[in-house]
Amino acid sequence: MFGFLKKKRKSLIGLDIGSNVVKILRLDVSGDRPLVTHFAMSDLPPEAIVDGEVMDRELVIQAIQECADKAEIPNEPVASAVAGRAVIVKKIVMDQMSEEDAREAIYWEAEQHVPFDIDDITLDFEILNEDIGADQMELLLVAAKKDMILSHADLIRDAGFTPLVIDVASFANQNAWEFASGEAVQLPEIDEADLAAEPSDEMDEFLGEEEADGAEEETAAAEEEGEFVALLDVGGGVTNVHIVKDGVPYFTRDLPIGVAQFSEEFQKQLGLTYESAQSVSRGHIDDVDEQLVEDIVRTVGAEIYQGLEPSLSYLKTSGETDGIDRIVLSGGGAHLPGLCNYLAESYDIPADISDPLSILDYDPDLFVGTDSEELSPLLTVAVGLALREGVQS
Ligand SMILES: Nc1ncnc2c1ncn2[C@@H]1O[C@H](COP(=O)(O)OP(=O)(O)OP(=O)(O)O)[C@@H](O)[C@H]1O
Ligand SMILES: [Mg+2]
Repeated sequence: MFGFLKKKRKSLIGLDIGSNVVKILRLDVSGDRPLVTHFAMSDLPPEAIVDGEVMDRELVIQAIQECADKAEIPNEPVASAVAGRAVIVKKIVMDQMSEEDAREAIYWEAEQHVPFDIDDITLDFEILNEDIGADQMELLLVAAKKDMILSHADLIRDAGFTPLVIDVASFANQNAWEFASGEAVQLPEIDEADLAAEPSDEMDEFLGEEEADGAEEETAAAEEEGEFVALLDVGGGVTNVHIVKDGVPYFTRDLPIGVAQFSEEFQKQLGLTYESAQSVSRGHIDDVDEQLVEDIVRTVGAEIYQGLEPSLSYLKTSGETDGIDRIVLSGGGAHLPGLCNYLAESYDIPADISDPLSILDYDPDLFVGTDSEELSPLLTVAVGLALREGVQS
């Protein structure tokens, strides 16, 4: 491919196949602000995806097609993501060498750091510090399981779409946050042929981030350089913890607590139906005992707090930081009543709820029947995907 023949994509479809809800969203990125042109979501039965793995392909394909039909989405290439557990992010130290040589040597190094067969993974890295003394350098290693990425791409093809980008959900979350907080990233070039042949090319995208010229208005988050931000995506059944600083992911892992665990406690302790408990999870507490709801959120939320501890000790013992500076909540559980406050108080740091729609233009009719503000955090991964504006020849 010749770079000068390439032109920027003007739009991209983000397809977030969550274990509870499939979301599809198309962004037109040709103007000053991205514009949402199409949107829909569909529920997935609980048995379709379990622990991030697709158990029933047909159900998932049906949900994608139903979602695409509802959105009347054009048949254009899509960006989609596998769950966080498909990827390992680790900081490693190795002998100083050129980036080119490191690209070969990384496979030998990775064997010591990654608990999978080296033939089963696709690797990428970024040199974080070229010289840490004693002829050593520091790298960030990213390893993803090839089979998960390839079978996800197949799933999308079977649903009738062309996968342009297969990302990892936590990186898409990071992309949306960076865009919203003004740390807009310079996106590397992608083309379909690359993806089909070698998904590892896509890994560049996760890490090859530079500040773009004329980034969007800067918020306090972006101005304060070097903040350690914990992006917490509270999904249907899991919470993905993704810790980033200056565009570099330091840690990513899933905790087995999601909206379902909160919702079950609401049902049990407040004597609610499933539907009412779901409504409480979304922040509607007018008809229930507010104090009890808050207590439940604190008790279940404590498991997220405790689950975060090993990640933070890891950062501490590796000398990175004494603690995180900010929390950003996304996913369907972001509006769980009192959760954001609880986490902010527990760590004594600011906590925000992700609001990707606030940086996008859209016709409110697209979200008719739903409260778009309430929905916004749930769309973070889909928006982060649709913002992966690739390049087409
Ligand atoms: N407006 C909403 N529409 C649908 N579900 C919502 C809404 N608001 C909150 N929820 C809750 O959020 C859950 C889905 O959250 P989310 O879409 O983040 O999960 P997911 O991406 O499907 O799951 P995971 O990321 O764990 O695989 C639903 O199960 C529901 O309980
Ligand atoms: Mg999700």
